[in-house]
Amino acid sequence: MKKIIVAVDGPSSSGKSTIAKAIAKAVGYNYIDTGAMYRAVALYALRNGLDSQDLLPHLDQINIAFTRVEDGSQHTLLNGEDVEKQIRTLEVGNMASQVSPIKEVRAFLVAQQQAMGKEKGIVMDGRDIGTVVFPQAELKLFITASPEVRAMRRYKELIGKGEKPVFEDVVADINDRDYRDTHRAESPLRQAEDAILYDNSGMELEDQMKDYLRFFNDRLH
Ligand code: DC
Repeated sequence: MKKIIVAVDGPSSSGKSTIAKAIAKAVGYNYIDTGAMYRAVALYALRNGLDSQDLLPHLDQINIAFTRVEDGSQHTLLNGEDVEKQIRTLEVGNMASQVSPIKEVRAFLVAQQQAMGKEKGIVMDGRDIGTVVFPQAELKLFITASPEVRAMRRYKELIGKGEKPVFEDVVADINDRDYRDTHRAESPLRQAEDAILYDNSGMELEDQMKDYLRFFNDRLH
């Protein structure tokens, strides 16, 4: 059967990772979380006391991979260590947002992402998948939701992880990240011209999935 590439882009907490994972599971494709790759680089920098520019000579010492764990979910490995939990903190998210605008960091990770998609049959989520990593992807989704909805999702997610966020800080963090992601010089977050714009504010995943799977099946023919 024909295999395609599904590119899922969008701002922070738009739900794109959940969506990309659910699509991959439904159609039997591999799922690649590129945000996790930027987060792993950020964690490496933080652990080694490197600021964004000092990091560059160390890139070749960073090995990022994914592994499937017992419950069926996918975890990120940094130099062989499972860092799935460590990369999901606000601190690492903020550092990821500082290292991700660096051209060399992007080139380092984009080359790995392109290699992962060589055989197609993948769902990849990020900010630049439909514009830079796979401009030829057969299906491109640009997922968004209102800033209030996204801040509330992020807030609940952090509470669920045992953190004690202040809602106003989460809103400010989402706004800052949106600004940085859309205004950076290197591969800013933007919708590819041929991407489907999908606003999922107030929608359940189950209802969204009907649309995504319809788009997917349309692209197979
Ligand atoms: O989606 P996320 O919050 O896990 O992403 C972490 C950071 O990495 C965020 O600042 C955006 C950046 N990123 C990027 O620049 N390009 C990608 N393809 C994925 C994430």
